[in-house]
Amino acid sequence: MPTPILPGRPVEPPAETQEDLHSLVIETSRLILRQPARDDAPILAALANDVAIAENLSTMPHPYSVEDAVAYIDNTAVTPLRVNYGIYAKERDGAFVGTVSLQPRDGERYAIGYWVGRPYWGTGFATEAAQALVDLAFDRLEAPSVAGSCRVTNSASRRVLEKCGFQYAGQGMGPSLFFRGMVPVDRFRLERPVWKSLRAWRAASVAPRTGSVHGIPALVEAE
Ligand SMILES: CC(C)(COP(=O)(O)OP(=O)(O)OC[C@H]1O[C@@H](n2cnc3c(N)ncnc32)[C@H](O)[C@@H]1OP(=O)(O)O)[C@@H](O)C(=O)NCCC(=O)NCCS
Repeated sequence: MPTPILPGRPVEPPAETQEDLHSLVIETSRLILRQPARDDAPILAALANDVAIAENLSTMPHPYSVEDAVAYIDNTAVTPLRVNYGIYAKERDGAFVGTVSLQPRDGERYAIGYWVGRPYWGTGFATEAAQALVDLAFDRLEAPSVAGSCRVTNSASRRVLEKCGFQYAGQGMGPSLFFRGMVPVDRFRLERPVWKSLRAWRAASVAPRTGSVHGIPALVEAE
């Protein structure tokens, strides 16, 4: 039985994740999520050097150079408290398309962040990557909840959070490197019990009417 964890408290993450997360490769139906490599720096910089991305993130420099990308990649050591993965599209020959992360913010143990390059907007990649990291947070990192936030003007990001099951938790102010100050943000939260319900519904929607899915009886939760 895992030790109960309180939101916002510094915690010892589960021991088995300490080593595994570093080399973890997550595969979804269309994406691979893994630690970015130095080879990704030129394409990462080309996609990230976009005002529409920088103005919607808290700490993205603009303009964004290959040196910025190398510095980012060299500092993305994945730990159980900070996960930063590159997003790679299987159907585009494994091309780097963006990043997705989990890290502490505003007293929250995990806040999710993501961006995808402009050529890939509207593909559903951001939602697919975010859903995979939400599952990681609850499945492997024993998160009690996951937070999310976006600028009040960022309807696409708001929609991504909604499609992941996040619920509106009020407005606030968040930091913006681009605007050199604070900007109004909408806050969202996904609590573990809600995620468990959503996962049960997802499993039920693909389960046969009788029998089992991967050995799990239909309509019964995996835990
Ligand atoms: C936010 C972002 C990651 C979304 O990427 P994406 O690939 O378009 O995301 P998805 O395709 O998974 O989903 C986008 C959803 O937003 C909707 N959407 C897009 N623009 C919209 C707008 N202006 N108003 C309302 N909804 C919008 C899409 O229709 C889609 O919803 P649907 O599937 O119900 O149709 C991408 O725009 C981005 O990287 N923006 C810059 C960085 C950023 O804002 N990161 C998030 C910081 S909080």
